[in-house]
Amino acid sequence: MHVVDKGEGLIASAQEMAPTPKEGGDKKRLSTGITQLDLLIGGGFLKGKAYLITGDSGTGKTIFATAFILKGLMEGEKAVYVSVDDKPSDIVEQAASLGWDLMKAIADKQLLMLDAAPFFTGHGGAKKELDIPKTVADLASYVNRLGAARVVIDPVGPLVPSREGRHIRDNARTLIRSLREHLETTNLLVLPSAGTGDVEEWEEYPVAGVIILKLTQTQKGMVRTVLVRKMRATAVELTEHPFRIISGKGVVVDPSMPGAAPSAPVEPIPMPIQTPVAAAPVQAVQPQPELPEEEGNIFEAWNPIEEKAKNVTKKGA
Ligand SMILES: Nc1ncnc2c1ncn2[C@@H]1O[C@H](COP(=O)(O)OP(=O)(O)O)[C@@H](O)[C@H]1O
Ligand SMILES: [Mg+2]
Repeated sequence: MHVVDKGEGLIASAQEMAPTPKEGGDKKRLSTGITQLDLLIGGGFLKGKAYLITGDSGTGKTIFATAFILKGLMEGEKAVYVSVDDKPSDIVEQAASLGWDLMKAIADKQLLMLDAAPFFTGHGGAKKELDIPKTVADLASYVNRLGAARVVIDPVGPLVPSREGRHIRDNARTLIRSLREHLETTNLLVLPSAGTGDVEEWEEYPVAGVIILKLTQTQKGMVRTVLVRKMRATAVELTEHPFRIISGKGVVVDPSMPGAAPSAPVEPIPMPIQTPVAAAPVQAVQPQPELPEEEGNIFEAWNPIEEKAKNVTKKGA
């Protein structure tokens, strides 16, 4: 498959060459949720593998990860989103601002938001010794119980104990191998690029692909770009493809760089869940699936009803 990212080529190609799985797409691959990105990587992520998405703060990593989850939900898959730094409610609200309704999927028990922040930040949690087998067992208990097909860990860094020297390499390798052994899911790991060294260190590990998001200076100012730096078993062009994040539309990959030939109309990604959401949708949701009793000390299932009740109590107090 040859895709040219020039002028109208990508759009034309997108329409001709983006089969949905139902139309006989590659069953070994999962759509990323962004049609034009799928085209750049041979149809999507290989099932059961781990992928890394990296970039500075605000480049769109969480939004790409959300699009990946939503695409799965749209295909009838279940998904787990592990949130470490952002509150699950913030991710849900940001998705809502793009026209994506995560609350319905949570209510329908298609999506489980796991909050790892309390472990890392609450009650001396940051000082707790993190044990990779225990972390993966805890995560696997939720993922396997739900029967999820897609997992996002946003960001993955805090799950790797000791962020110094060789230990990162060894521990990152152990984490990724362990995820692969215990989960059958396709995993998207978010890795903020605090320093350029970080990605290179992680890249050596058994991740099947690396996607880099950047803010790039052009003649017309700063643009967001996506670069597929590594994609196992797939030929990729090492080109930075501009994209935009647009309210109500989501991620829109431009067919040409600004300043190049006149740009063709952009193709928004399809809305996985069309319900428009106006404000923070923290209401009318069924309880989460019950927690596994023997696990649950690193990741907590986010329950919007409980959170709402807590906030009401706080305000009333
Ligand atoms: N509804 C929206 N419309 C336009 N841009 C948005 C919208 N929501 C978020 N963004 C943009 O996306 C950025 C955050 O993306 P995010 O995926 O959270 O970044 P990262 O995870 O890489 O830090 C914001 O800084 C903002 O510019
Ligand atoms: Mg983020």
